Amino acid sequence: MSNCGRRVESWVDLYDLPTILKDKPVFETLDTLPADAILGLIAEHRNDPRDNKIDLGVGVYRTSAGETPVLDVVKVAEQRLLDQQTSKAYIGTAGDPEFNAAMQRLTFANPALDERLMTMQAPGGSGSLRVAAGLLLRANPDATVWVSEPTWANHHPLLGGAGLNLKPYPYYDTASHTIRLDAMLGALSGAARGDVVLLHACCHNPSGLDPSEEQWRAIADVIVERGLVPFIDMAYQGFAEDIDRDAFVIRHLADRVPEMLVCNSCSKNFGLYRDRVGTVSVLAEDTSRRDVVHSQASNVVRTMYSVPPDHGAAVVSIILSDASLRANWLIELAEMRDRLKSMRSLLNDALESKAPGADFSHLVRASGMFCFLGVSKEQVAKLKTDYGVYMVDSSRINVAGITEANVEYLAESIAAVL
Ligand code: LMR
Repeated sequence: MSNCGRRVESWVDLYDLPTILKDKPVFETLDTLPADAILGLIAEHRNDPRDNKIDLGVGVYRTSAGETPVLDVVKVAEQRLLDQQTSKAYIGTAGDPEFNAAMQRLTFANPALDERLMTMQAPGGSGSLRVAAGLLLRANPDATVWVSEPTWANHHPLLGGAGLNLKPYPYYDTASHTIRLDAMLGALSGAARGDVVLLHACCHNPSGLDPSEEQWRAIADVIVERGLVPFIDMAYQGFAEDIDRDAFVIRHLADRVPEMLVCNSCSKNFGLYRDRVGTVSVLAEDTSRRDVVHSQASNVVRTMYSVPPDHGAAVVSIILSDASLRANWLIELAEMRDRLKSMRSLLNDALESKAPGADFSHLVRASGMFCFLGVSKEQVAKLKTDYGVYMVDSSRINVAGITEANVEYLAESIAAVL
C-alpha cells in the first residue's frame, strides 16, 4: 500500500500522520478557486466604502430601506416555537411529517395525488436539489439532465458536481429579451426517453422570464410525447403572480406524467434564507414505487447529512397550519411581490429619461427578483469599479436592491456606461 509516494506497511501506519504530512501535505494538491459568481458579491459589496454603492447581486429580498427583515409571521411562529418546543431530539431523515404534508399541499394542491407523492424536508433549495441529484444518479446514472441556457449559476456546479450529465436547451434570447420557445421545444424533442428536464416553475433565475400558461402546455406536450422526466425547481413560489398561479406548471404536469421531481425552497417566500428550509418531492407511478423512492431518498440523506435542520421548517409548519398566520403570510408575500414589481417600473421609467433611445422595457416584462440588464461584462465591471453598482457578470440584477432613494443614481450610472 502506498501513501503520498511513501510505502505504508499497514493501516496502523496511516495514523502516523505527522510523518506522512511531512512527506507531502495532502492539501498541497489543491488550488484556490475564484469566489462564487453570486455569493462572492456579498463580500465585495460589503467591503466597498462608498456611501452610494448599490447591491443588485445575491437574490435576497430588501425593503425600500434596503433591509432584509424577518417576516412578522415568522417572528410570531418563532415565539410560539420557543414557548412550546420540548425537545431538540433528531426528527429523522425525512424531517417533520406535518411540515412535509403542508409543503406538498402548497405545491401540488391535489390530495388525489397523495398516494403517489412523497415529500421530504431538505436543507434549503440547494439541499433539496442535491438530494434529487443523488436519487436520479441511483435511478438512471446515464440520463441526460437538460437545463435552460442560461440557468441559475449554481445549477451546473451543484448538479454536475454531483455527477449528473447536463446538457443545455435554448431558453433566452439576449437580443430580443424573449423566450426561445421554438428552439427549446426543438431541443427537447430531440431528448431521449427517460431524460430529465430541469424547469424553473416561476421567476426564472436569471432571466425573470417565464412561459405563459399556453407555452407551458406546449412544453408539457413535448415532455409527455417524448417520455421525459420533469425536474422542477421552485425557489420563488408567490413572487410572480401568487402561490397558485406560480405552481401552474407543476400542477399541470402532475396531471399528465407518471413521474416527476420538484424541489422547493422557503428561503425567499418565508425569508428564511439562513435557516435552510426546503423540500424535495417525487411523484411516482404508484404507491409502491413511491415507497421505494422514499427509502432511497432517506438513504441519500443519511449518507450525506443524516437529518435536515429543523428550526425553519418548524416555523413554516406553524405558519401553514394556522389560518390567521397563513393569511398574514400571504399578505407579507404580496407586499414583497408588489415592491419588486414597482421597482422594475421605477428603474425602467428612470432609464427612459436618463438613457433615451435605449429600450429597457424587458425589465417590466420579467417577474420575481431577477432579470438581465442587458449590458456587457465590461459594462458590468465599469458599473462596479466606477459607480459602486454590483451585479452578477452576466448583468443579472436583483431588482430588490432598487429603492426610491437610489434609482436616479442607478439610472445615471447605467446611462453613463452605455
Ligand atoms: C441567487 O440566485 O442569487 C440566490 O438563489 C442565492 C444563491 O444561492 O445563489
